[in-house]
Amino acid sequence: MNIYDFRSNPIFFGRRKGRKLSKSSQLALKEGKRYFIQKKDLNNITNSKKYIILEIGFGDGDNLINSAKTNPEIFYIGSDPFLNTTSKCLEKIIKYKIKNVVIWPDDVRKIIYLFPKNSISKIKILFPDPWPKKKHKSRRLIQDDFLEIIYSIIKPKGTITIATDHDELKCWTLEKFQRYGKFEWIVKTCKDWETRPADCFQTKYELKSIMQKRKPSWFIFQKIKI
Ligand SMILES: C[S@@+](CC[C@H](N)C(=O)[O-])C[C@H]1O[C@@H](n2cnc3c(N)ncnc32)[C@H](O)[C@@H]1O
Repeated sequence: MNIYDFRSNPIFFGRRKGRKLSKSSQLALKEGKRYFIQKKDLNNITNSKKYIILEIGFGDGDNLINSAKTNPEIFYIGSDPFLNTTSKCLEKIIKYKIKNVVIWPDDVRKIIYLFPKNSISKIKILFPDPWPKKKHKSRRLIQDDFLEIIYSIIKPKGTITIATDHDELKCWTLEKFQRYGKFEWIVKTCKDWETRPADCFQTKYELKSIMQKRKPSWFIFQKIKI
């Protein structure tokens, strides 16, 4: 079976659960269920919200929560299957009473193909799992089928921002987008990929990479009208 077949049940190779969840995390997952998006809600949400940002792999929610707090006029959809960090993100959503966020607590590949065409203004993928081993490269998120789907769901001139500190994944990402050909890499000077974009907040993984003296890169690709 093709592990990347969106229309079958994609196999997720990352972790869904780590250490035992604390009482407060368990409570957040229970209380936070009201923020969970169902597949059947997608049409309503995308019809009623003008500007939607989809964040894939939000981790602790550093970027998702700060972005939602700063931009109440924008609607955010976050996806992450790792329950330990999803619970942390939900704790913040509940604490700050954030109203412009919903969560898909699972693999984005199970829902992304159901978004209507031209419904998403921006997609952000900050420090995705690099799956560094050659034999594991089919597990990386950025694949040809994935690009085909995001091209269809992103609005004209919409963008996708991808951050990574992993050299092999940097090359992989640039090569995949270049070969696909329907997105333009928005770049003038090296500052553009060396600097975190103004609309992104620092995340745990960016901090970790800086502490470990790796260089994060930020790539922004814009949908080209074909
Ligand atoms: C390295 S962490 C980065 C977390 C956060 N973006 C940050 O910068 O701190 C990668 C995250 O992507 C999530 N992830 C991996 N594959 C995913 C998928 N197919 N759909 C949604 N999230 C995914 C993982 O569960 C994990 O939380």
